[in-house]
Amino acid sequence: MRSLRLSMEGIEYRRGDARILKGISWRVAAGEHWSVLGPNGSGKTSLMMIATGYEPASRGDVFLVAGDIGEIVLPDVRKKIGFVSSQLTDIMVQHRPRVTGLETALSGRHASLGLYEKPSARAIRDAKRVLAELGALHLAEVPFSKMSTGQRQICLIARCYMTRSRLVILDEPCAGLDLATREIVLRTLTEEIRRHPATPQILVTHHPEEIVPGITHVLLLRGGEVVAQGRREKVLTRRNLERAYNVPLRVVHQDGRVWIVPRRQRQQQLPRISRMATDYRRQRQRALQRCSLLPVIRVIREIRGKKRCRPT
Ligand SMILES: Nc1ncnc2c1ncn2[C@@H]1O[C@H](COP(=O)(O)OP(=O)(O)OP(=O)(O)O)[C@@H](O)[C@H]1O
Ligand SMILES: [Mg+2]
Repeated sequence: MRSLRLSMEGIEYRRGDARILKGISWRVAAGEHWSVLGPNGSGKTSLMMIATGYEPASRGDVFLVAGDIGEIVLPDVRKKIGFVSSQLTDIMVQHRPRVTGLETALSGRHASLGLYEKPSARAIRDAKRVLAELGALHLAEVPFSKMSTGQRQICLIARCYMTRSRLVILDEPCAGLDLATREIVLRTLTEEIRRHPATPQILVTHHPEEIVPGITHVLLLRGGEVVAQGRREKVLTRRNLERAYNVPLRVVHQDGRVWIVPRRQRQQQLPRISRMATDYRRQRQRALQRCSLLPVIRVIREIRGKKRCRPT
């Protein structure tokens, strides 16, 4: 049996009166690569924060890489976890605005935000390689505060891939990226899966088309509960996705990726006001047709009348 890298059993999570996660159980083993999908507010980020020990669960057990989360030394274990999240961007902007792109990437080796020790020549070479792979070498000397949203995101992805990871968690890594940059990030993710097949990659996303072919499993959430989880082909079905998002959908498979297209609603499902407008248009058309026949009818009647009056 393959070794577990993350396990969550019966996770409950409350903030004030709100019950955010409701009894979630989820296991990620070495060699499995997961995507976590679900509508806004379904609890994806909360689940990742609990998985990494940044938030404590209200109830349930968490096993992370080396042991039970209550017993492991979290700062040590975090050095083995690559993590990208908008929370990290906020901390960097507020507390580390002068840190450059290269320093951001290098800090991944120490699980810190910013650099506190002199990096080795090898680490610098690796960081430049990762930045170059992500098409971001030009950001090496740019301070974090002077980068665009997408550029910050790319540098944090480079930081994540500088970690010597046993587990990688990417919480919406493509948010704010343009189409071409998003494809570069997805290509890097594919390459990382190929290079380190045993290290699980967990991709949290709103866009099923970002689930690259290397991702093997999907966890689908809604309202803090699991809608479906397991092998990607079993979970990414129209039925499951419609249950999660509550809108009619069409699932399109192309080049190993899945695209979700909203399904056109039928006439009966249109709002009442559009039905009334359609009815009105039809009635008006019929009336006009009737009107346009009137002159013709009049001429026919006239000719018939003349025929009748002609003298014999
Ligand atoms: N500090 C907080 N106090 C109370 N409720 C919170 C707090 N933070 C988040 N929530 C609630 O927890 C729920 C889950 O939030 P979470 O950020 O985990 O969702 P998400 O699936 O990541 O959403 P998104 O797709 O928008 O990122 C939401 O309903 C949110 O309103
Ligand atoms: Mg989120």
